[in-house]
Amino acid sequence: MKVLVNDQLLERDQAFVDIEDRGYQFGDGVYEVVRLYNRRFFTFNEHIDRLYESAAKIELAIPFSKDTLRELLTTLVKENDIHTGNVYLQVSRGIQMPRNHIIPDDFPLEGVLTASTTEVPRNLEKFVSGGSAITAEDVRWLRCDIKSISLLGNIMAKNKAHKAGALEAILHRGDIVTECSASNVMIIKDGELWTHQSDNLILNGITRQVILDVARKNGITVHEADFTLADLHGADEVFISSTTLEITPITAIDGTVIGNGLRGPISARLHELYEQEVIRQCGEFEAVK
Ligand code: PDD
Repeated sequence: MKVLVNDQLLERDQAFVDIEDRGYQFGDGVYEVVRLYNRRFFTFNEHIDRLYESAAKIELAIPFSKDTLRELLTTLVKENDIHTGNVYLQVSRGIQMPRNHIIPDDFPLEGVLTASTTEVPRNLEKFVSGGSAITAEDVRWLRCDIKSISLLGNIMAKNKAHKAGALEAILHRGDIVTECSASNVMIIKDGELWTHQSDNLILNGITRQVILDVARKNGITVHEADFTLADLHGADEVFISSTTLEITPITAIDGTVIGNGLRGPISARLHELYEQEVIRQCGEFEAVK
């Protein structure tokens, strides 16, 4: 198993980061998770663009051009023979001694890129049966649009869900539902789709963007607007979306069944449309050995 450290492909056990890397000390960095189907990246450019946008928002200079980064990641997944799986990549602000909150401007820090891969088959059963969720107050910072490696608020919420035997924690600020610990959330009411607008309170998921696009192109009314906890609990259908979860139905929230407790027809239709987009970019789903 090879990993990437900057432009070096290394054996996993030969790869190390410096203890004074700002990513390690401050969580000062940005990341992406990109999915591969049939050995091809899905929405590759969108993820690379978002990485650079996140970096720009925190004034972090990524030490490679987008083309070079794409080439490095392509080599990594080939080397590891990934068919259907994930690439995790992050760029930290780099090494600084001694530790100091201030980003120095008297010498340039070199951002540190690391990337690894995992073969992860599509969880077809989960895409149909879905899972339950809890709700939790969204106590994260106010720049959730940045895909930052500082994820304490997210992991605390996810772990709370896990302990409750739930798949996800759906977050809310007061009465307004934002997103989840590691995914976006959408609801269907009277045939129309509602999801929080893309602003500083959510990560504008790439999966979210594909879903909204195919929904609009197929005549489903989309509201990118505030909706409340009462709307969530009273929805006809609820689903979450992310690179790895695609569209996963939420069939119960805080112990209350949503709709009839099964994946709803619009969720199913949207997943079909999402799969068509995957097929368009990556080809018909091949059986994974
Ligand atoms: N999480 N919101 C949050 C807080 C997320 O962490 C994610 C993704 C999303 C969905 O984004 P996308 O559709 O681009 O994957 C929304 C990734 C998969 C993770 O941290 O593992």
